[in-house]
Amino acid sequence: MKVVRSVKELKILRRTMKDTVGFVPTMGALHQGHLRLIEEAVHKNRQAIVSIFINPAQFDQKSDLETYPSHLESDIQALKNSSVDVLFAPDEAEMYPNGYAYKVTENELSKKLCGSHRPGHFDGVLTVVLKLIHLVKPTSAYFGEKDYQQLQLIQQMVNEFFLDTKIVGVPIVREADGLAMSSRNINLSSDQRRNSSQLYYALSELKTDQDVRKHLENNGFEIEYIEELKGRRLAAVRMGSVRLIDNVPIDSK
Ligand code: PAJ
Repeated sequence: MKVVRSVKELKILRRTMKDTVGFVPTMGALHQGHLRLIEEAVHKNRQAIVSIFINPAQFDQKSDLETYPSHLESDIQALKNSSVDVLFAPDEAEMYPNGYAYKVTENELSKKLCGSHRPGHFDGVLTVVLKLIHLVKPTSAYFGEKDYQQLQLIQQMVNEFFLDTKIVGVPIVREADGLAMSSRNINLSSDQRRNSSQLYYALSELKTDQDVRKHLENNGFEIEYIEELKGRRLAAVRMGSVRLIDNVPIDSK
């Protein structure tokens, strides 16, 4: 596996790569959820590129950025074991050579749900994903349904800007007790971790959004929102200082 740190090097390498190229953008601290996307990219394409970049532009809270886990050495090992061809791991100066001078803003869906609680978050996501897609020029790019609103916005952006990349959504990978895998889960204390399984239980088993809200509040969650979007029930909650998001198809209730 080639580890590429600079935009220049990636551009040169990309010119030598033949179709088809699968791409998985991540912020690292890789877990089974990421690895599912990577498996898909590796198996469905001749070559696979993964990026690891903790994108400051999408963090609306400094403390969240500061506590975001970073495990580059073990991530590199996991990627080698997964037969990935190229890891692109730039630093901030590579991705934002002029600071955050230009950005992509969507004005409808990005202002709702997570967007209404995390101002500027989706501008940061869309901007970095557009930059990455321009650099990597993937045949297909893989995104998790875990971040359902993000997946919808990226699909819309790719349509809107006539990009040739196919966006592929991949189902959520869960822990045995139902908790959606997330890089942030390691910031949960053992009591919080035990309680967190109630999020999936409530979303998938309880009848009304009000029932879900009551159940979660009784189990120590602070609710940001519980809402429906495109046939899914989505929620964002806090368990202590850790923010968790999840969603389930509505017909599975
Ligand atoms: P990150 O949170 O690292 O997630 C990278 C990709 O893995 C996203 O597409 C996300 O939806 C997917 N993913 C995370 N947990 C998953 C799970 N349990 N099951 C299935 N897929 C899962 O999402 C981001 O990074 C960033 O916003 C990014 C798109 C890289 C832009 O910076």
